[in-house]
Amino acid sequence: MKTIIFGITGQDGSYLAELLHDKGYEVVGVTRRVSVDTLQRINHILPQIKIVEGDITDAFSVSNIINQEEPDEIYNLAAQSHVGTSFKQPSLTWDVTAGGVLNILEAIRYSGRKEEIKFYQASSSEMFGKNYTVCDSQKYQDEDTPFSPQSPYAIAKLAAHHLVRNYRDSYGIFACSGILFNHESERRGEKFVTRKITKWIGQFATWKGNQLFIQKVRNQAGEWVDGPSRKEDDPDMIYLHPSDETGFPKLRLGNLDAFRDWGHAEDYVRAMWLMMQQEFPDDYVVATGETHSVRDFLNIAFAHAGVTEWDDYVVIDPQFYRPAEVDFLLGSSDKAKSNLGWNPDVSFEGLVHRMVERDIYEARLQRAHLQKV
Ligand code: NAP
Ligand code: GDD
Repeated sequence: MKTIIFGITGQDGSYLAELLHDKGYEVVGVTRRVSVDTLQRINHILPQIKIVEGDITDAFSVSNIINQEEPDEIYNLAAQSHVGTSFKQPSLTWDVTAGGVLNILEAIRYSGRKEEIKFYQASSSEMFGKNYTVCDSQKYQDEDTPFSPQSPYAIAKLAAHHLVRNYRDSYGIFACSGILFNHESERRGEKFVTRKITKWIGQFATWKGNQLFIQKVRNQAGEWVDGPSRKEDDPDMIYLHPSDETGFPKLRLGNLDAFRDWGHAEDYVRAMWLMMQQEFPDDYVVATGETHSVRDFLNIAFAHAGVTEWDDYVVIDPQFYRPAEVDFLLGSSDKAKSNLGWNPDVSFEGLVHRMVERDIYEARLQRAHLQKV
């Protein structure tokens, strides 16, 4: 079996590439030309997979790749996937997140192999949008819940979602959409709230550990004395000791009261593959069935790093508020559970702990490296 993954350099792409490679697939990943290295998440499997250059907004490159590679399965994970960014770059978001999907569907339609190719589209719980505005654990979203998108990103994803259904109905293409709720991991992009928090905790914990050694300095007589005192208190900085010369910048966040149904990406790519193994294409909600606020995430993440009171470490910064917010997401995956036999393995706490531990480990590694050079 041969597969093409659009978006292989992203969080999900990297886990999916591992999963499909382990299952014996020949994996072809599409990467776009950018000025920095975007292969970090897949470096470890590069020798086992093939990389081709392409961009989903370029219809010619998409159809050339599909015609040349002749895949059995195509997974489209490529998108401008940051909701906040979509308010700042709505046109680009539309071109990539909606237009790119149309390019892939058209390429399949005219490939001469449309009956042989299965297509997976990464739809999103963000499409439910302003469905519920308060946290109520009795309410949830599933395949029958109406969509009410709240951002350019969600609107583009919804357009793509409808295109997939339309191409399935119109041309008989095996095209399915996974309506995936938020899923995170140690490989999550650093601008999403979960990773932003755990990355900050990793760096803070490492700085804090190091502070123990720099709180005292040697004077001219060679004696250990308290370090020079800082000039003035800065409300945006953390000082652990009155004699700290330098502080650590506080964690700046937006809305802490949004609720999300957060799972682990490794579990979610398994659901994608299962959808593609069915006899008939269909759309499925993939979620854990538990919802937590950003505040809950902060509580568990900080507690795992040994900090019980984090209020003084976090600054609410209006620049991270969105023009329109999605307040409450909680999914029911009953259909995926019964039709696909899918269940998540990683709990919310397990997810947060894994992310915190990895970011503390990486920050220490980085510091140790810096001290060597
Ligand atoms: P991600 O880490 O942001 O990865 C996005 C991928 O898309 C990257 O590989 C990126 O390449 C690629 N890409 C962006 N623009 C492209 C273009 N014009 N042509 C080709 N590739 C392009 O996202 P993720 O978290 O893995 O999510 C995967 C997909 O699932 C996305 O479509 C996302 O919208 C959707 N989704 C995610 C979640 C979630 O919670 N993670 C939930 C529901 C749906 P570069 O590395 O070059 O930037
Ligand atoms: N990114 C970010 N940064 N979000 C913040 C911050 C901050 O500093 N402070 C608070 N938040 C809030 C956001 O306002 C939002 O309510 C929540 O944290 C989650 O934000 P993100 O982590 O950026 O994720 P998202 O829910 O907007 O979108 C993710 O999930 C979707 C599925 O529901 C992305 O992965 C999308 O691609 C995906 O479709």
